[in-house]
Amino acid sequence: MSITVPEKIREHYDAVADTYDDHYDQVHGRCYHTHISRYIMKSLPAGVHLLDIGCGTGLFVEKYTESGGHAVGIDISRGMIGRAHLRCGTSEFTIGTGERIPFRDNSFDAVSSLLVFSYLGDPVAMLDEAYRVLRPGGIIAICTLGKKLLTRGIPILYHISEKMKVRHVVMKNFGERYYDENEMYDLFENAGFTEIRVGWCSFAHIDMIDPLFSLARRVEPFVEQRIPQFAYNICVNGKKPEK
Ligand SMILES: C[S@@+](CC[C@H](N)C(=O)[O-])C[C@H]1O[C@@H](n2cnc3c(N)ncnc32)[C@H](O)[C@@H]1O
Repeated sequence: MSITVPEKIREHYDAVADTYDDHYDQVHGRCYHTHISRYIMKSLPAGVHLLDIGCGTGLFVEKYTESGGHAVGIDISRGMIGRAHLRCGTSEFTIGTGERIPFRDNSFDAVSSLLVFSYLGDPVAMLDEAYRVLRPGGIIAICTLGKKLLTRGIPILYHISEKMKVRHVVMKNFGERYYDENEMYDLFENAGFTEIRVGWCSFAHIDMIDPLFSLARRVEPFVEQRIPQFAYNICVNGKKPEK
């Protein structure tokens, strides 16, 4: 019996929940995740009530709440939510989809989402839901792989790695979708957000080996500012209008 894409994603992340942090919270992974987390945190108000969509094992929730505030994480994978509970005992986590958020209107000051947007079958629903649960004046900031020359081959790579049964925490064919600046801007604008800013981050890829990774880390700030066409994560933030 064939399963739907969201079921496949959920089953995959349930299966890798115990090893996910070996990839994202060790050596290169920690550098990479800290880098994108800082980029996103610069766009968010500090110390407020935050919802993190697709929170995974709570890596961003942990970093965000280090300097105060309160965070709630939501994820479709029970396994990832279990790990998040272990990592951040004082934060709240719940199983659910970003396309149908189980919280009331106007209940958060900020919404974040890291490395999730490309998985969404219905990105419009996720942004509409984020808008609904944000209070007026609330801020959203997301980071996801962007559509560009460098990422064009990724779906094929993931397809091959799945066929070859490669054990990797993200390399699987989930029909991921990538967006460029204009597409992202339009999605955010159509959801009702204002003051939209689109930027690019990340040049040192988590799967690069040393010394390539260290070299890429060194030139990363230059790449992001001067030649963003070589950075591969697209970061977008916006504001729900005050009234
Ligand atoms: C690459 S991981 C990123 C996890 C975390 N944000 C991080 O930065 O480490 C992708 C996560 O998105 C979750 N996910 C995928 N589709 C989702 C959806 N529609 N709603 C909520 N979570 C989703 C997966 O279960 C997984 O935990």
